[in-house]
Amino acid sequence: MKKAAVLYRSKYGATRKYALWLGEALGCQAQELGRTLPELGDCDRVVYAGGIYAGGVPGLSLLRENREKLAGKRLVVLCVGASPYDGKALKALGERSLGGMEVPLFYARGAWDESRMDWKDRTLCRLLQKAVARKSPAECEPWMAALLESAGQARDWTDRAWLEPLLAYLEA
Ligand SMILES: Cc1cc2nc3c(=O)[nH]c(=O)nc-3n(C[C@H](O)[C@H](O)[C@H](O)COP(=O)(O)O)c2cc1C
Repeated sequence: MKKAAVLYRSKYGATRKYALWLGEALGCQAQELGRTLPELGDCDRVVYAGGIYAGGVPGLSLLRENREKLAGKRLVVLCVGASPYDGKALKALGERSLGGMEVPLFYARGAWDESRMDWKDRTLCRLLQKAVARKSPAECEPWMAALLESAGQARDWTDRAWLEPLLAYLEA
């Protein structure tokens, strides 16, 4: 029988929510990814869900370092960000972060709440918002427009529907 593992890293909870939904759908318990990759035994499908912070996804370097352990398993990555889906940006993120590893990347929209961010993250996001606000609308990438639109607001876009393409891929 096919067995799956769901690993995740989540700072503010949206990615964790998706990981728990994935665990439910795939019949396993989602596990938070620590500093080392857990034993994956006979799991033949592995999903890693990670939040996007300043264009990067923590945890991908650990997958890269363990590529031999993951060989032969069907690995997919779910990136959770605040921006609307942007295939070009997701592809660029994979090229920057996966060091040539062939891993399908999926996307789910998470949440945004500056009042729950720690001081460092809130400061970083406000600096980014200021920098983006100086750009003309034509220069704005989709994530920049979303960043401005969400400034100072609490938004939650989490929705199980985002997981359908990933689950369909794993079932095929
Ligand atoms: C410091 C910081 C930087 C972020 N940078 C990005 C980004 O580059 N692109 C994006 O789509 N979302 C970005 N976000 C939004 C997060 O990806 C979003 O809040 C997501 O839900 C985070 O997952 P989590 O709730 O599991 O931590 C950023 C959030 C923070 C706090």
